[in-house]
Amino acid sequence: MKTFRSSAQMRAWSATRVQSGKRIGFVPTMGFLHEGHLALVRRARKENDVVIVSIFVNPTQFGPKEDYSKYPRDLKKDLALLKKEKVDAVFVPSVADMYPLGVKAGNAVPIKAGAVSKPLEGAFRPGHFDGVCTVVKKLFDIVRPQATYFGQKDFQQTLVVKDMVARLRLPVRVIVCPTVREADGLAMSSRNVYLSPSERAFAPVLYQTILQAKNAFLKGEGAKSVEDTAKAVLAIAGFKVQYFSIADAETLASFVADKMPKAARKTAKPGRKWGVIAVAAYLGKTRLIDNVAFVFDRR
Ligand code: PAF
Repeated sequence: MKTFRSSAQMRAWSATRVQSGKRIGFVPTMGFLHEGHLALVRRARKENDVVIVSIFVNPTQFGPKEDYSKYPRDLKKDLALLKKEKVDAVFVPSVADMYPLGVKAGNAVPIKAGAVSKPLEGAFRPGHFDGVCTVVKKLFDIVRPQATYFGQKDFQQTLVVKDMVARLRLPVRVIVCPTVREADGLAMSSRNVYLSPSERAFAPVLYQTILQAKNAFLKGEGAKSVEDTAKAVLAIAGFKVQYFSIADAETLASFVADKMPKAARKTAKPGRKWGVIAVAAYLGKTRLIDNVAFVFDRR
């Protein structure tokens, strides 16, 4: 397994693979890998000739009060895990390499995320998805993958990246893989390491509440009432909810009637729809996100 620290080296190595007709599958990560990341790597391994993984904690997607400096890192362990998965190359660039003019320079984040970035995460983490799009676009330019693998855990991120790929006509297929969960249902996340033992014991309530909400919604309860009940349940369990939203899974427009944009209300015809329940909540100091997507019949 090769490890490249500079974008020039990574770019040159990838170019030789592309020239010899190899299909490159790419998994971008911020490291501190868990089974969720490894599931993406395994899928990439199955579907491509060459698998490249990047490990880069991207400063421009963190807000000033967020956890950039304390984001968990363990490069040695990550490299050992990736070697076991028979990854061909790992790209571990420095901040200076990815942002040669600095992260605070004017236009350090030149790619602006589309409209789907605005609700949910976008409302609580302004600029987050511009940082994600900027770094993902730079990584695609360096690695030149035909396929890239993202986890459904970051549901909105998958929509934002697909939207960027479509708008910029990038020659890469975005493949979304199911969320990997612990035995008790907690979605795997590098940030789970922040949870204290008692918080960890309560953390699965997040997923349980989403499933209960999904059942209630599918049985015909209104979106507003389902959301309100879920928020109350989570508050009792000790969560500070930022959002709990039942929404269209393509646009993230809320299904709560008075929050639905006019245009969406007009086109809300009966038929099969793809919905998502997405939540972000603090448990102590740890911010957790999760979601479940589902198909339903709009009457
Ligand atoms: O999902 C992540 O880990 C990050 O947002 C990504 C896609 C690697 C970009 O920094």
